[in-house]
Amino acid sequence: MKIFLHAELDAPSLPTHLYDHEQEWEKLQPVLDRFDISQDATHLAREVGYKLVNDQDYDKSYRKQKNRQVTLPNNEITKSAHSHWNLLDDHATGWIEQNITKHKITDARHCFTTPGRKVIGAHRDLTRNFVLMYLLSNGGDDHATVFYREKGHDDIDREYGYHVDDYNQLEEISRIQIKLNTWTLISASVLHGVENIPNIRRSFMIGFRDVLSDVKYKNAVYWDTETQQTIVKHSG
Ligand SMILES: [Fe+2]
Repeated sequence: MKIFLHAELDAPSLPTHLYDHEQEWEKLQPVLDRFDISQDATHLAREVGYKLVNDQDYDKSYRKQKNRQVTLPNNEITKSAHSHWNLLDDHATGWIEQNITKHKITDARHCFTTPGRKVIGAHRDLTRNFVLMYLLSNGGDDHATVFYREKGHDDIDREYGYHVDDYNQLEEISRIQIKLNTWTLISASVLHGVENIPNIRRSFMIGFRDVLSDVKYKNAVYWDTETQQTIVKHSG
């Protein structure tokens, strides 16, 4: 069986009249300039009406995420970044349905990561199985989105909210440097994390339950469960 991991899409950008992210950035910037790495960005995010991922619905998970620490492969212990978000409105999601995919959207957000925290620790998303990413700022020149399997496990799908905090338990299976201003679909049900993002990483994230079957992929990467290796399929 082949399990989808990630692919760049051949799809148009979200028009600025539907979501002016530059204007949004102007609103965010002054608040974020006051961010102090020794504190958490939550109160600042709230000032501009942003939520922390799962802020309301999963209060326990939220507290855990805020204080989450991960052990990196070099045994360095660091605090994981997390996403603050604002929902995109019906005009933006309507445009996505008209111009990119008819698949049902679970959640459509404008997100930014905690500044000063350089990794988003390996996790499985809480609300969706696939995410269409559109990067507005990358968070650091060497940024990478990395997919993992747990050592000693053949299956790579995980249940909602699953995470692994010790990278010594993980084996990398694929990595991608998501391009700016380009739609990229990634699996959210396979353990994944983001590396080298000391600065704020901003993106649109559109969630789906199912893999998108009505889009054009460029260089889609899958995990082959039989050979336990990644395979690349060029366009189509
Ligand atoms: Fe994720």
